[in-house]
Amino acid sequence: MILVTGATGLVGSHLLLQLITENESVIALYRDKDKIQAVKSVFEYKNHLDLFEKVQWIQGDILDIPSLEIAFQNVKEVYHCAALISFDPKDEEKLRKTNIEGTSNIVNCCIDFKINKLCYVSSIAALGDTKENEYIITEATEWNPEKLHSDYAISKYGAEMEVWRGHQEGLNCIIVNPGIIFGYGFPLQGSSTFFNATKKGNTFYTKGKIGIITVEDVVTIMVLLMKNNIMNEQFILVAENPTYENVLYWIADAMNLKKPFINTNKTLTKLTWKMDWFITKLTNRKRKFTKNLAIASHNKNSYSNDKIKEKLHYKFIEMKDYLASLSKTYY
Ligand SMILES: NC(=O)c1ccc[n+]([C@@H]2O[C@H](COP(=O)([O-])OP(=O)(O)OC[C@H]3O[C@@H](n4cnc5c(N)ncnc54)[C@H](OP(=O)(O)O)[C@@H]3O)[C@@H](O)[C@H]2O)c1
Repeated sequence: MILVTGATGLVGSHLLLQLITENESVIALYRDKDKIQAVKSVFEYKNHLDLFEKVQWIQGDILDIPSLEIAFQNVKEVYHCAALISFDPKDEEKLRKTNIEGTSNIVNCCIDFKINKLCYVSSIAALGDTKENEYIITEATEWNPEKLHSDYAISKYGAEMEVWRGHQEGLNCIIVNPGIIFGYGFPLQGSSTFFNATKKGNTFYTKGKIGIITVEDVVTIMVLLMKNNIMNEQFILVAENPTYENVLYWIADAMNLKKPFINTNKTLTKLTWKMDWFITKLTNRKRKFTKNLAIASHNKNSYSNDKIKEKLHYKFIEMKDYLASLSKTYY
């Protein structure tokens, strides 16, 4: 039996479908029954509504150990996809709790219940920092605590430390670090911002680089890594490293909408995050554009996918065509 946490999210829902298609028995952890509908719509979109009934749902929270102890009964493998994704500085405490303490709880249950293998979904945000004149980040690039990191990045890095601690205590594990994930089914969060902004007539772009991948590649690779005899290793999952300009142009072209035409320099993005901070103070709304996001929008680094390509001889889905077809679901 396989347990999937975060089953009602983008990665979890596509992973459920992948595992069920491969005839696996899967227990899916959920918190709120209403969120299961989005998972059903993913199965429907992929023409596999018939398989939806095969998912065994169990209510639980990664911060509630007794609920996990029930979910872990008869489980042999765990895919830990549950996390909080937020770049709002107000969520610092919540991020640490959900992502670090939540992962620690999962790791402890994996050890207590003698799980064969854990796959943890981290992020490129938790990877290391390049030195001067270095522009390629690999799995070996070291984290520099003195560099500025978002609270999200710190929480994902802390979660990885919990997984490696589990490994020291005898747990077999795999960590994947995906870039920004694009996929069907969750039109109000994450990467959907690119499509929604284009629809609203976004005029701004930057020339910073962005590591991206499809959700199909992420879940296929996760399952391959779990099924192969690969243990206690970490893999960057990035298909391509285009610029924000490239991605926004591809999407605008596919949607037959106006391309953004204002190349936003560092001064303008600085002004934007300061304005956002000010508006948040006045209105108490959530931060939309933070200092960290402003810095990231001018990122010059690329994420290397050499390690995973070499290990699995994997060929990634091409992003331009994929985004064009995904954009059709945003009308
Ligand atoms: N999306 C990306 O671009 C991206 C990129 C790199 C890495 N990642 C990583 O990939 C993983 C999956 O991301 P995603 O895009 O699928 O995120 P998502 O769509 O926001 O889904 C997050 C999932 O985590 C669950 N969750 C949150 N707190 C929980 C808790 N306390 N107990 C149990 N479940 C909880 C959510 O449940 P509810 O539905 O109840 O809220 C949801 O099912 C995360 O670890 C994320 O950090 C994502």
